[in-house]
Amino acid sequence: MAVAERQRPRRSCLAVPGSSQKMIDKARGLPADQVFLDLEDACAPLAKPDARKTIVAALNEGGWGDKTRVVRVNDLTTEWTYRDVVEVVEGAGANLDCIMLPKVQTAEQVAWLDLTLTQIEKTMGYEVGRIGIEAQIENARGLVNVDAIAEASPRVETIIFGPADFMASINMKSLVVGEQPPGYDVGDAYHYILMRILMAARANDLQAIDGPYLQIRDVDGFRRVAGRAAALGFDGKWVLHPGQLDACNETFSPKQEDYDHAENILDAYEYFTSEAGGKRGAAMLGDEMIDEASRKMALVIANKGRAAGM
Ligand code: GLV
Ligand code: MG
Repeated sequence: MAVAERQRPRRSCLAVPGSSQKMIDKARGLPADQVFLDLEDACAPLAKPDARKTIVAALNEGGWGDKTRVVRVNDLTTEWTYRDVVEVVEGAGANLDCIMLPKVQTAEQVAWLDLTLTQIEKTMGYEVGRIGIEAQIENARGLVNVDAIAEASPRVETIIFGPADFMASINMKSLVVGEQPPGYDVGDAYHYILMRILMAARANDLQAIDGPYLQIRDVDGFRRVAGRAAALGFDGKWVLHPGQLDACNETFSPKQEDYDHAENILDAYEYFTSEAGGKRGAAMLGDEMIDEASRKMALVIANKGRAAGM
């Protein structure tokens, strides 16, 4: 599938436990760009077999509008992964956009999922290669291998930071996901991880997604943490509660004034360069000099705004 088709809107990625029919029904009407039905940590071990069936039925019932429809399976160190993938994709593969693989540690794990999806697509007569992969980086091994993970399959669409598991995996001295660990007062303790993920994603034309903020009643805190990822260039973030949705969509959309300015830069650049018969590389917009690099920066903001319907 072409890169552009893989770049689905993902400002807000709503987590919904696959075991909760009530939450699944509610999620259909919420303004999230993506919904992911969870078979992993939001689903107790004994609830997983029934949750697979609930998820298949929910996808096939439809009603998801333009939302990107994703299922998070269990990670490959468990005994559940293959059944998750086989049951969900055989049962609802035509109504599913991506499988999210948590705690990815190596490129081989992504290759396993790619091959398994191909087998199921062939068996079921689905279009081969249509279902994408979202890879969650949640431990040190995943992070050091993130470049290989990002290029392990053309199905990979996103690299996701899983801060809660990541913090546990590196023994970070904090219990508040996304907030700075007490005692670390020389910068942002997440900067390296976020940048590492962002570089692997961008080098492979993938989207970079930030994980959850668990203090669900603290919308200001959500905005602060989401704002950092958005400022670096991340495309979206997880949402655990409907109360975080508006803040998330706003944070990952450009401000109206920035969007308008970006469109002005593109118009001005187009006008001045075409006026000079393609021989002029830079132009002035008010007091600002614009050139090919500013055109590219403006295009990033304009594309985000256009995708958000601005
Ligand atoms: C998400 O899965 C996380 O561990 O933060
Ligand atoms: Mg996790």
